[in-house]
Amino acid sequence: MVPLKRRKVSASDSAGKTGNNPGEKTPTRFPGVVLFLLEKKMGASRRAFLSQLGLKKGFQVEDVFSERVTHIVSENNSGHEVRTWLNSQDVGRAATAAAARLLDVSWYTESMRAGRPVDVLDRHKLQEQQADEADVVSFSLPSYACQRRTTLDNHNAAITDALSLLAENAELSEDDGRGVAFRRAAAVLKALPAAVTSTRQLRGLPGLGEHSLRVIGDILENGASTEVESTRRSERYKALKILTGIFGVGAKTADRWIRDGIHDLQRLRESGQTLNRAQQAGLDHYDDLHQPVTRAEADAIGEIVQRAVTSASPGARITMTGGFRRGKPTGHDVDFLITDPEEGNEEGLMPKVVSWLESQGFLLYQKTSRNSYLESNEGPGRPSSNMDRFERCLSIFKLTRKEHRAGADGPEPGPGSQAENPPTRRWRAVRVDLVVSPVSQFAFALLGWTGSKLFERELRRWAGHEKAMSLSSHALYDNKQSRYLRASSEEEIFHLLGLEFVAPSERNA
Ligand code: UTP
Ligand code: MN
Repeated sequence: MVPLKRRKVSASDSAGKTGNNPGEKTPTRFPGVVLFLLEKKMGASRRAFLSQLGLKKGFQVEDVFSERVTHIVSENNSGHEVRTWLNSQDVGRAATAAAARLLDVSWYTESMRAGRPVDVLDRHKLQEQQADEADVVSFSLPSYACQRRTTLDNHNAAITDALSLLAENAELSEDDGRGVAFRRAAAVLKALPAAVTSTRQLRGLPGLGEHSLRVIGDILENGASTEVESTRRSERYKALKILTGIFGVGAKTADRWIRDGIHDLQRLRESGQTLNRAQQAGLDHYDDLHQPVTRAEADAIGEIVQRAVTSASPGARITMTGGFRRGKPTGHDVDFLITDPEEGNEEGLMPKVVSWLESQGFLLYQKTSRNSYLESNEGPGRPSSNMDRFERCLSIFKLTRKEHRAGADGPEPGPGSQAENPPTRRWRAVRVDLVVSPVSQFAFALLGWTGSKLFERELRRWAGHEKAMSLSSHALYDNKQSRYLRASSEEEIFHLLGLEFVAPSERNA
């Protein structure tokens, strides 16, 4: 139910003008009440009859709509229909629309019977959320994405795609603040239980700034947002997208290349720019790395990684994290977390895993970084240092068709990617991230690497702002107690944070 808007027309204002009403025979008994009957659906003759009745009983009933009207009476209309009609009237439309009461004819007939304006009860008021606005009230969400359950069942994909594109564009332009704002707005829309049909349904929702609301309004009204479409078509966005789409190329490098006139892969290849090893591999396998990785392919890689890990330490185990753990059917890479149930056994594991994979010919590229995490007695250094410091291997796997067809059916050559992937080729390149965690940090690493990125960001924001704690993929530190809080499962971490547990499949914010 929508509360009545502040009434701007005061009783004395209307009363002062009543004497000017030429259609008035009987003296006005109720000066603060100026009625107007809407003909729409009521019909002209019933309207005339009811008007006469009102005038006889000493009410002011206006024939023509004006800003003096305090009560608009209609029959069989929804609040939305009356508003639409009001908005089509140009007489004092804003003021009147905000000030007048929208009432059902039952209030009018009861008032006639009583011989005075009866109290306006809820049942007399037109429900403005009715009809197409039925779900207005149901759209309410907690502020933080980590307090919400966001499945892959997105009812507002057209809007969230548009907002994500603007977020991506902001991030590519190194405007992270704006990027996060659009990501938050998109996350709110992803969490709604139904498709939005009007921006009015979004009133009171968290995370929706003026800019995001304007974009949403454009899409709802016109089917598309001009800002989004012009961004999508802009040369700069297209070039940034292509260049940062190369593994190993970030926004800064792409921007420098664009300023040198390099807008696409061909120009880049011809330019003679020196590329680092990652970028060269990224360019070599560009098409493959842009083919979504399927769950079957991810599982096939999981089997290989498990073999490598077992050969290095028989007790060690792997967990697939990232989007696949959240239930996504495809991904841009495959993420694995490796740990050994015996603390300390994980030391030296990564080099062994990598050399096994290399010796078997599974790696097209790899770069390993050492573990640099140190727990200090003063707690985590900068709370904003979100980068984790696990021993990590960024790699490009060579997945043979035989391997990734394990359990799958189709014939071997995949569709698309013909240029780099002629039908005769029996393998494809896949980005794989390996991370090794000591078992004492495993729960934090698992939570941190399951994503989504926005969900993780919101967890850290919640921890910092609401709980005075610092959360990372290594640990949870309580700033008030000045101590680390231990946990051996994700459930325990949510509990320590004072949050309800959110399952991985519900973290798709
Ligand atoms: P990804 O970038 O792999 O995203 O990061 P994703 O959700 O799996 O999606 P796709 O399908 O691959 O595109 C997975 C998680 O790992 C964390 C991110 O925060 C994200 O939650 N991550 C990634 C880190 O913690 N540190 C990193 O350096 C990279
Ligand atoms: Mn991933």
